[in-house]
This record gives sequence, structure tokens and C-alpha cells, in this order.
Amino acid sequence: MTILAGKRVVLGVCGSIAAFKAAQLCSTLVQAGAEVDVILTRAAREFVTPLTFQSLTRRAVYGDLYGDVAANPSLSSAHVDVGMHADVLVVCPATATTIARLAHGLADDMLACTALVSRAPLVIAPAMNVGMWEHLATQANVATLLARGATQVGPTFGRLAEGISGMGRLAPLEDVVGATRAALGRGGPLAGRRVVVTAGGTHEPIDPVRFVGNRSSGKMGHALAEAARDAGAMVVLVTGPVSLARPWGIEVVPVETARQMADATLGACEGADLLVMAAAVADYRPAVESDRKLKRSGDALAITLAPNPDILATVSARFGDRLVKVGFAAETGEVAAEATRKLHAKGAHLICANDVSEVGSGFGTDTNRVTMFGRDGSVEALPMLPKPEVATLIIARAGALVAARGGATA
Ligand code: PMT
Repeated sequence: MTILAGKRVVLGVCGSIAAFKAAQLCSTLVQAGAEVDVILTRAAREFVTPLTFQSLTRRAVYGDLYGDVAANPSLSSAHVDVGMHADVLVVCPATATTIARLAHGLADDMLACTALVSRAPLVIAPAMNVGMWEHLATQANVATLLARGATQVGPTFGRLAEGISGMGRLAPLEDVVGATRAALGRGGPLAGRRVVVTAGGTHEPIDPVRFVGNRSSGKMGHALAEAARDAGAMVVLVTGPVSLARPWGIEVVPVETARQMADATLGACEGADLLVMAAAVADYRPAVESDRKLKRSGDALAITLAPNPDILATVSARFGDRLVKVGFAAETGEVAAEATRKLHAKGAHLICANDVSEVGSGFGTDTNRVTMFGRDGSVEALPMLPKPEVATLIIARAGALVAARGGATA
């Protein structure tokens, strides 16, 4: 479960051609365990129907401030109730009209009333014609909302409905979900803390076209970075080459080799409160990197490997216990013994061991089975879970260790 589980999300949908994408967003939020109340503006109903959202949420869909009440008197206070009980208000797509309405505090439709009543964080995902977006009036209205603490996600540059390209496309839905999660997590247990997460495998070049690598997909590390963000932290994600989207609201530092990852991680750890090393760092690299593509000769080819720096051990040596350090142990047997050895050898506070020979656990999978070995001798075995859920539990445990050390650094 991520932070969305059990949360009350109000999804305001406005009249834009991008309104059809709000149905997918709604479905994603519902699948993540959120209770979603959908409000369609009058213009949105020209593009999408209430039935679509009612079917996805199995809840009433709000829209016409007066017509809904005429049809169902129990909705007479919906314009107040929905906003008062919201944990977060997401307006997606947000049109120029609705942004103006919210900026100026109007209360002339159900969405505007709800936003005015609600004290929950507001997320806007604008989508409109480039001229409307760039107009000073829209920019001033957006600035007003941001100054009040709203979160803006997008728009992006791309092909618009009119057939031209420009700023105005709705942000990718995973970014809207990321922004919603981050808004929910604001002020969470890691608020004011700086967290560094490493993810993915490293590529150690043999020649310009070949490398020594491993099967890490980056899923575990990305999930940890997002869980830390959702706990309110400022997160730096140092990641090897992966094919995952950049998570919203997280500073991403892409690297290729173990030595690059070491430099980036050591730099990011200055002033950090927590390091979580989920990356599968190559322990060795080709001692010599050919600057030309190696030719096939038919004979055996021997490649001498040189040791890479141990990043976690180096962080421990340089920073001591000024930050909490969480490592992973990818094992194919003797999990407990190896995890305990690595805990002490690398100066970690916590080692999360995964038996990567178990089906569904470890490299490339969507799930993982992790056992947490603490410096205090504690052993906590988690069941097989989706990686985002594993990440939430690890970050909760690491967050408690950070809290026990006291004072936020930022
Ligand atoms: O990316 P996914 O496909 O989601 O897969 C997730 C994972 C299996 C990669 C992840 O759960 C995991 O186990 N990551 C650690 C993999 C690993 O390299 O384990 P290790 O036992 O070799 O290393 C122990 C610890 O030392 C790790 O925290 C590692 O990041 C760190 N290390 C290792 C080598 C090195 N040179 N420097 C390090 O800091």
C-alpha cells in the first residue's frame, strides 16, 4: 500500500479534451486504495460523462450545484461536505477558467465551492491551448495558487489538440499521481529530512559498445525514493541506467559506473539524514577499458577485473553515524549470515536481505521478500509484497531510526 490507501481524494475534472485521461487517473487512484470523489465541471460534462466516473469509483459524481440537489435532496450540503472531508484536491485537467476561479476564490460551481471550503493540499495539472497557458492572466493566476501552497504538475510541451506543438499538454498521469502522493505526504515523518537513495545496476565498460552489468531494473530503488518523498523527505535518487520514468518531485542523478555512483552518492550524502543503498553495484570492473571496439579473433578472451570501491563502506568511513545507513543484501543462500556480516562490514544500521533465488523476489520482479537485520540485533521478516509496499515499510523503519537521532538538518 502506498500513501494513497484509505485517503479521500477529490478529483476535479474540467472541460478540456484531456478530460478523457482523467478516467485513467481516477482508476489508478481507486486501485491504489483511495476513496475518490469526482466533480465534473459543466464544461467537463461536454467531454466525459458522470457514468464513466461513477462506474470507476462506485460513488456519486458531483457537478451541477443546483441540479444535483433538485434530483437528490440529500446532496444539499455536498458543496461543503466533499471539500471538508478531503485529504487532497486534484484538479486534472485544470483549465484556464477553473484556475482563474480558484485563484480568485469564486464559489459559483461545485468544484470552486469545494476548493474554497477545503483546507487540504491542492494539486493542479493544467492542460490548455498554448496561448491561453502563456497569457499573463493565466500565469498570474497560477502564481497566486502556488504562493498559497498549491502543487503544479505540468503542462508539458508537445502536440496539442489544435494540431500545433507547444506548452499545454497534460503532464503524464504518473506525474500527477506522484504529485498527489507527495502532496499527501507533506509534513510527514521525514519532513525536513534529506534522503539519498541509490537504484539500478551499474554498467562497467569493456569497450565503447560492451559492458559488464547485472539484472537490476531499478524498481526497488525507485519505490524507496518515492516512499521517502511520500514521507515528506527531500530525496536525491542516484540511479544506474534503467528504463523507468523519472519519479515526480525527486532529484535524479543518472550515473553509469560504480565509480560515478560513488562520487554522486558521496556528494549527495553531505548534509543528508539517511542513505538507502538499493543499487546493485558492480564489485569489479574491467581493469582496462578499450577505446576501440574489441575485434573477434576466434581465440579465448580474458578480461582482468579490478575491484570497485565499496560505496556503503566508504560512506560509513567518511560520515560515520552522522546519517542513518540502510543497505541491501542480494543473496542466493545463507541469507542471515551474509546479511549480518555485511551489516557490520559496511557500518550499516539496517540491512534488507532478499533471497534473489526465490521466484518473485529480487532482480526485475514487481514483488520482493525482504528480511530486515538491525544493528541492534533485531530481525524482522516481511512477507512477499509488491515493491512499493516493501519500500513503505523499509522507509518507516529507517524513518524511526532517523527520528531517534533527533534534530532535522534542513
Ligand atoms: O532493481 P530491482 O530489479 O528492483 O532489484 C532489486 C535488487 C535485488 C537489486 C535490490 O533489492 C538489492 O538487493 N540491491 C542490492 C544488490 C547488491 O548489490 O547486493 P550486495 O549484497 O552485493 O551489496 C550489499 C550492499 O552494499 C548493497 O546495499 C549495495 O548497494 C552495497 N554495495 C555493493 C557493492 C559496492 N561496490 N558498493 C556498495 O555500496
